[in-house]
Amino acid sequence: MKTSAEKIACLTAYDASFARLEDEAGVDFLLVGDSLGMVLQGSDTTLKVTMADMIYHTRLVSAVTTRAIIVSDMPFMSYNTPAQALGNAGRLITEGGAQMVKLEGGSELTETIKLITQHGIPVCGHLGLTPQSIHKIGGYRVQARSNEAAKKLKEDAVALQQAGAECLVLECVPAALAADITRALEIPVIGIGAGTDCDGQVLVVYDMLGITARQPKFSKNFLTGKESVADALRTYVEDVKNKTFPAAIHTYD
Ligand code: KIV
Repeated sequence: MKTSAEKIACLTAYDASFARLEDEAGVDFLLVGDSLGMVLQGSDTTLKVTMADMIYHTRLVSAVTTRAIIVSDMPFMSYNTPAQALGNAGRLITEGGAQMVKLEGGSELTETIKLITQHGIPVCGHLGLTPQSIHKIGGYRVQARSNEAAKKLKEDAVALQQAGAECLVLECVPAALAADITRALEIPVIGIGAGTDCDGQVLVVYDMLGITARQPKFSKNFLTGKESVADALRTYVEDVKNKTFPAAIHTYD
């Protein structure tokens, strides 16, 4: 899809009902995100999500998905060493039914990603705003606005690709930086609050249906004016594919 310049439409999914609707709507990549800690469990961070939670929700999604790729988040503290990461990534595949795992972090994950991918498990990286580091970052805000931080983020992106990652999520970074990284990488870059020029877009499904209390700037309520959730999901896929979402108002400088 990157090669043929077809935009990749991604959404989070945490259960069978949403997974079925999203799969039928043409969503390409269902992310069983650890955002479930916030939108399902009511926590103000993703940090309390466990491997048991992730396996359970991945199983619900994989039970009904026939078309989309299922990507499952590795939760906080589940990939502290390469060996621990390999064991837990394997559980998301064998017990949960995921087809790819996602990890937050940069070049420090090189050995971990090499080991996981050498064992046949595809990996998606996640850079920019990495919610599992919230206490280090100090808040949910746009990342890599300085030249130095932008340079480091791009180096990290290249390191993840070289280590074997097959996809990269970029969260809340300036649009120009995301565009530069997207051009520099061969693997698809999926943006969330990362401008219009990434290879694809991902949103938290509860945000784009207006269920969450506060709508992030980078999201949009696709249910407004629609007859059904299925209609809203189809509109999201169309808008990503025809590049009408995200618009300039959803991006950061
Ligand atoms: O957990 C999640 O939902 C995510 C997306 C915000 C990319 O990682």
